[in-house]
Parts: sequence; C-alpha cells; structure tokens
Amino acid sequence: MQNLDPPEQTPIRRLFTTAFRDQDLDGIGDAAVADTRELVAKYADAPEFDFTAEVARPVALFAVCRLLGVDPPPVAQFAALSDALLRGMDAGLLPEVREPALAAREKVSELISGWYHATRRPGLLSQVLAGAERAGVQEPEIWNSARVLFLAGYSTTVGAAANAVHALMEHPGALERMRDPRLLASGTDELLRFDGPVQGTTRACVERTEIGGSTIERGQLVLMLFGAANRDPEQFACPDDLVLDRSPNRHLSLGWGPHACSGAMLARIVIRALLTGLLQSPQPPRPAGPPWRERRATLRYPDRLPLTFRPAPV
Ligand code: HEM
Repeated sequence: MQNLDPPEQTPIRRLFTTAFRDQDLDGIGDAAVADTRELVAKYADAPEFDFTAEVARPVALFAVCRLLGVDPPPVAQFAALSDALLRGMDAGLLPEVREPALAAREKVSELISGWYHATRRPGLLSQVLAGAERAGVQEPEIWNSARVLFLAGYSTTVGAAANAVHALMEHPGALERMRDPRLLASGTDELLRFDGPVQGTTRACVERTEIGGSTIERGQLVLMLFGAANRDPEQFACPDDLVLDRSPNRHLSLGWGPHACSGAMLARIVIRALLTGLLQSPQPPRPAGPPWRERRATLRYPDRLPLTFRPAPV
C-alpha cells in the first residue's frame, strides 16, 4: 500500500480503508480511555512517571492490536523493536543503525507470522484477508501492508500523544480547556499541527518539474517537511501559537493525497481517548522533569516525558 502508486495501489488501499471503517472504532476509543484511566490510577501518587513509556506506549499498542484483532506483544519488548526500526529510518545519515534495524525487522516479521492463527478472530486483519481474492489482492501484499500499518500506527500514535501532552504541559490551562467536547475535537487537530511526530516524507519525481525557481528532474528524490509546512505563516495565522479552536486547520501531520494516513480516524480517536483519560485523573498532571528526545530525522517526540499527579509544592 505504501510503496505502490495508483492505479496499482488503489485495490489494496481500498480494501484496507473499507475494513477500517467497518471496525468498532468508537469501542476501541472507549477501551483506550479505560486503559489510560487504569494506567493513570497506577501512577496517581508517584513522584514521577514517564508518560511516553508508561502510558502512551501501552495505550497505542493495545489500540492498534484491538483494531487488527490480535493479541498485543509485551509492551517493553515490542517498544525496543519499534525503536530500532525507527532509528533505522535514519540509516542514510547514521550507517551504524542499519544492522540493529534489520535484526528488529526480522523479529517483527516473526511476530506477524504468529498472527496467521489469529486470522479467524474478528478484526481488520481477518476482514482484509477474507476480501483479498475478490479485490484481486495477493496475500503477501496484505501481510506486508499489515506490517506497515502495525508499525506506522503504533509509533506515530505514541509520538503524537507524547507531543500533545508535552505541548499541553507547556501551555498552562490548555488541558483543562479540552474538557469542552468541541475543543477536544479541534484541539486534537491543533496539537497534531503544532507538533506532529512525522517530520517529513520522500517521493520520487515522475516528470521534470519547476518549483520556486528550482528544477526537479524525473527520478530525483524530493524530501518534503510536514513539520515546516505546518508552521507556514501563509497558511496558519500565528503559526507558533497553540490555538485549540483553530479553524480551518489544514495541517499535513497525517499526510495528504493517495498516501495520506489510512489510520487517521483511529489516530484522532486514540489521542482524544488519552486526553480524556488524563482529564479524568483526580489531580491534573504536571511536568516532573525535562523531556528527553533521541535525535531522529524522521519521527520527533519526547522519548521520555516525566510527569507527576502530585500537586506542586507551595
Ligand atoms: C497520530 C498518529 C498518526 C500520525 C501522526 C500518522 C501520520 C501519517 C503520515 C504523515 C502518513 C503519510 C506518510 C507519507 O505520505 O509518506 C501516514 C501514512 C499511513 N498511516 Fe498513519 N499516522 C498516525 C496513525 C496511524 C494509525 C493509528 C494507523 C493504523 C492503525 C496508521 C496507518 C498508516 C498507514 C497504513 C499509512 C500508509 C498509507 C499509504 O501509503 O497509502 N497511521 N501516517
């Protein structure tokens, strides 16, 4: 799905997007609220906990596994594999990350082969496999796309959630304002615009093109920076401000065109669920230390986001 152009991409993309819409996304959202509440309760009195590792990672992993209809792997073990794969996306800049990424890819493939027996369970995976023949899509393409969906869906949701909560901590009162259901919807998109995790993507140019006085030859690779476009002052008034009711808000954090995020609906539901779960905590969360980001070119978010629910000392 990710590496084909239309019209070859169309049948497989359609198969997945239809199966997406047929899943109980609201039910997955409700379960994500319950997961968040449970985790938040666990850390209610902790002097410090890492929001990214302890909340965002399990909530995102469980949501994507519920969508697919498979059992979740152990969170920390899977997070280590996913991190190695993410680092591998920067292998062009840092050749030493290539080998660990290839080893992680092998392990993720083993995990996904284990799902073969889960295909009779209700969920997106069993639906796309059942519809493959009618749609003219080969089974290997399905497994390949399921791997992309699983990895892309998990890591980006973790990143978006960590960025969102970090931005809310930096804007006192903003999380509280999101109790308003209208702001919860528009605010989720604004948080995605303000600090989306996917910084950019590449495409190959198919015909000689002129942009802004530069010529791009057929076959040349183009790197587009969503992060920069989302702060374009010609598109967004006060682009560096977090405006929870921003409208219109045509950000690019979920991509655009034939390869736009096919999990966008679920992405929004899970981010909203995480914020709803946080808002149900008896005390509001506050920062318990500086965030820490691993240096990555592709996906940007705090890998460690220390928070606490304990009130600030007077
Ligand atoms: C907030 C979380 C998410 C963000 C920020 C995000 C972002 C993106 C972006 C920017 C793209 C386009 C990449 C490109 O054009 O090269 C994309 C594609 C994709 N996303 Fe997401 N995504 C998120 C969540 C999800 C979820 C939850 C799923 C599925 C469970 C998912 C599945 C996919 C797939 C399968 C593609 C490839 C689509 C194609 O190539 O046709 N994403 N995502």
